[in-house]
Amino acid sequence: MIPLKTLTLKTKIIQSPMAGCTDLAFRLVARRYGMEFAFLEMVSADALVRQNQKTLLLLKSTESDRPLGAQLVGCNPETMGEAAAIIEDMGFDLLDLNLGCPVPKVTAPGGGSALLREPQTAQKIFESVIKKIKRIPVTAKMRKGFSDASGQEAVQIARLAEKSGLSAVTVHGRTRVQGYSGAADWEAIARVKEAVRIPVFGNGDVFNAEDAQRLLSTSGCDGVMIGRGGLGNPWLYQSIHAALSGSTAFLQPSLEDKKKAALEHLRLEIETEGERIGVLKFRRIGCWYLKDYPGTAQFRNRINTLETAQEMAEAIENFPLSFTGPPSGPSE
Ligand SMILES: Cc1cc2nc3c(=O)[nH]c(=O)nc-3n(C[C@H](O)[C@H](O)[C@H](O)COP(=O)(O)O)c2cc1C
Repeated sequence: MIPLKTLTLKTKIIQSPMAGCTDLAFRLVARRYGMEFAFLEMVSADALVRQNQKTLLLLKSTESDRPLGAQLVGCNPETMGEAAAIIEDMGFDLLDLNLGCPVPKVTAPGGGSALLREPQTAQKIFESVIKKIKRIPVTAKMRKGFSDASGQEAVQIARLAEKSGLSAVTVHGRTRVQGYSGAADWEAIARVKEAVRIPVFGNGDVFNAEDAQRLLSTSGCDGVMIGRGGLGNPWLYQSIHAALSGSTAFLQPSLEDKKKAALEHLRLEIETEGERIGVLKFRRIGCWYLKDYPGTAQFRNRINTLETAQEMAEAIENFPLSFTGPPSGPSE
């Protein structure tokens, strides 16, 4: 159990915010398979304060999609505070502040991972947000540094977060300069864990239960935040939870299990986004579920041309038969 102010997490495993990935359909599928806590994707504080319609759509949720965290990205302390109050009023269970986004559009004005090099601004943001929030826990998610690989920037920011009254921090063990290259540095997460008393979530390169166990033992962190590992793998949360509870039962989904979950995900995308957008989004999502099989490349090429939900469902149902060519007959 991880207590975070008004929210108590029953497991140590949470899903990270991922732009374009952790939408409502993704979360509803993952919850059916045992994910406890999820994030929406990050939203811009400026856009939220302006009540931008596209931003409000990104915050779409349902009653069964709980507990749920929202994440704000921005660099102006006042705007971040204003946006934080809106997030709390919308009924989310936790607010996270983004200090990790590497995208130039976000870092150029000073947001996301750029804040790792601006501790004074980061602190002003923390204080402004905490002042505006009445009830829910506030957390920060950061990379281990901007270009400094030592982890000291994350240590400094985590200390400021704790001092300002934040309830937890998450550390992704890569620098901004690294992007997604190289292995995540879990030792840097250990340095943050040693520096603060609030819970620390470790993040980076957890794709199975063994990875999660190694991250926990290497860093001493309190919880694990899953990122890319959760895409097309809603079994991951339960299998980690089972392993951490000492169970040797290994949840290994079959191809049929994956097709079933993919079809459920497709149905929910169509339901929540409409057929046109849902099918377009599913051109990418379908590949998350059916990678690593013979015929995957052909499957990807084929679904990239599909336009209706019916065609998409058939492509999944018929996988891999229609993509691996005719069965080879007896040799003559
Ligand atoms: C497509 C994509 C979108 C992402 N969007 C966000 C985001 O909105 N907010 C955030 O804090 N991190 C975001 N991240 C970073 C992930 O949450 C996570 O920190 C990163 O992928 C490392 O974890 P992993 O190695 O387990 O994937 C994104 C990552 C990817 C690949």
